Amino acid sequence: MTTAPAAPATAAPAAPVALRGVGRAFTAPDGGTRDVLRGVDLDVEAGEIVAILGPSGCGKSTLLRIVAGLDHPTSGGVAIDEAPVRPYDVRCAVGFQEPRLLPWRSIEKNVALGLPRGTARRDGRAQVARLLELVGLAEFAGHRPHEVSGGMAQRASLARALARNPEVLLLDEPFGALDALTRLKMQDLLLDVHAAEPTTVLLVTHDVDEALQLADRIVLLGSDGDAPGAGIRQTVVVPGHRPRDRGSAELAELRGRLLDGLGIDRHGAARGIQATTTIPHYPY
Ligand SMILES: Nc1ncnc2c1ncn2[C@@H]1O[C@H](COP(=O)(O)OP(=O)(O)OP(=O)(O)O)[C@@H](O)[C@H]1O
Ligand SMILES: [Mg+2]
Repeated sequence: MTTAPAAPATAAPAAPVALRGVGRAFTAPDGGTRDVLRGVDLDVEAGEIVAILGPSGCGKSTLLRIVAGLDHPTSGGVAIDEAPVRPYDVRCAVGFQEPRLLPWRSIEKNVALGLPRGTARRDGRAQVARLLELVGLAEFAGHRPHEVSGGMAQRASLARALARNPEVLLLDEPFGALDALTRLKMQDLLLDVHAAEPTTVLLVTHDVDEALQLADRIVLLGSDGDAPGAGIRQTVVVPGHRPRDRGSAELAELRGRLLDGLGIDRHGAARGIQATTTIPHYPY
């Protein structure tokens, strides 16, 4: 584990997030509407890490986009620190499955893109240097994205999100495209980063083990079968302090319950078939 540098003096405090009756309906190709999310109520404490699990297409990314102000709910609302979310809310930073770096800019300059508008040049340079150190990329500051590995590019993307100094960090399957070993390392890195900068984190993942390793709580999103639209089916508090023992019997039991909740054959998963590949698609 790396030793994380101290947080900057200007670090924004982590903020609580409150979702109240959040629903989202989209216009269907036939002109009608289709409910994707329905009645989502969730309170995320300041500094908490909450993982969102659910079948593909159930609305996880939509939910994250709504919290970030990149999309809007058609019913209910979201507040950060008791103030309603605004379009492209500056209190949030978002990290995606792919790094989305600008290929013609160096790693350092890509990270600098995340700095809040109006950051003084000197402060910005110091902040970027500190973040590159934090994610282990100090030596690669001048490299272009194609000159670093996928895991390194993803670390740069995480640093760019942190450069925003967010009160809420929203991560949408941030390690989904990485190989298994790099993924484990990135999970450890995220925990180090969170220890150094304890921002509130909402993490969408397909990986049950990742959720168990990283989250304080896991929220299972899905349909109850009766009405259209996904809501929170189950909330699980993950026991024990991080970093957790990946082989613990307690986590194995919880893993089984979560796989059941996702409708996955847990014996198949126990035989080594990745839960990530067996999470079903949402029945649209
Ligand atoms: N802008 C949009 N217009 C119409 N439909 C949309 C729009 N955005 C999302 N949807 C639909 O909402 C549903 C949920 O999409 P979303 O991307 O949130 O799912 P997800 O749970 O993140 O899936 P995955 O695990 O595959 O990433 C999908 O059926 C998608 O087609
Ligand atoms: Mg998604």
